[in-house]
Amino acid sequence: MHIIVCKDYEEMSRKAAALVAEGIQARPDGLISFPGGDTPLGMVREFVDMVNRGEVDISRTHYVSLDEWVGLSDTDEGSCGLFNRENLLSRLEKPFADVHIINGAAVNMDAERQGLDDYIEKYGPLDVSVLGIGMNGHLGFNENGVDFSLNAHIIPLSETTRKVMSKYFGDKFHPTQGISQGIRQIMAARRVILIANGAHKAEILRKAVRGPVTNEVPASVLQNHPNCYVVADEAAAALL
Ligand code: PGA
Repeated sequence: MHIIVCKDYEEMSRKAAALVAEGIQARPDGLISFPGGDTPLGMVREFVDMVNRGEVDISRTHYVSLDEWVGLSDTDEGSCGLFNRENLLSRLEKPFADVHIINGAAVNMDAERQGLDDYIEKYGPLDVSVLGIGMNGHLGFNENGVDFSLNAHIIPLSETTRKVMSKYFGDKFHPTQGISQGIRQIMAARRVILIANGAHKAEILRKAVRGPVTNEVPASVLQNHPNCYVVADEAAAALL
């Protein structure tokens, strides 16, 4: 693992965006993926600014979302799809070659899961996979105890994820499942960038980076990835 400690959230966001751009420059017709959530917001903004300034060409690049709450589509508040539309796709002055956003409100969720697998199969493997880390060590919705050999799947949300997610939904929505790219697809990425900020992430980041590789801390699997960057601010990196 390449560990990059940044002085603050802004520096973490800039460093991560620059690493994404490098990955795209290496294979401009490749496939990239970003997470939703609080952590990636600054990175996504930096990345869009780089694209709009002409510093990175995404005209041949494909984009796929990482995960979604089952029950929400990309028009629903708090969804990863809406995060993607509002912060990334609608702000780009020139679009990606193609985009696949997971629909968590599809009538046939198994077909949606298959569609995610098919998209990654067609345009992948991922060239760049950016990931956040959950308070329980999840990657996307690869929750504690997940089978590392899975591709895209639908999974019950852990107790921790359900508690933490109330910051997105309040009392309006109580999802019980997530749909996510699987660890197999993440581990096949040419470059993985794990971003984390804030003191509340320090202990779980320590477990992921320094602890044993175990599906009880799904992010620990990244210790086995040959080209994984951990980009963290000083607070999140404090226990590394
Ligand atoms: P956060 O979520 O960026 O909102 O902290 C991270 C995650 O749960 O993967």
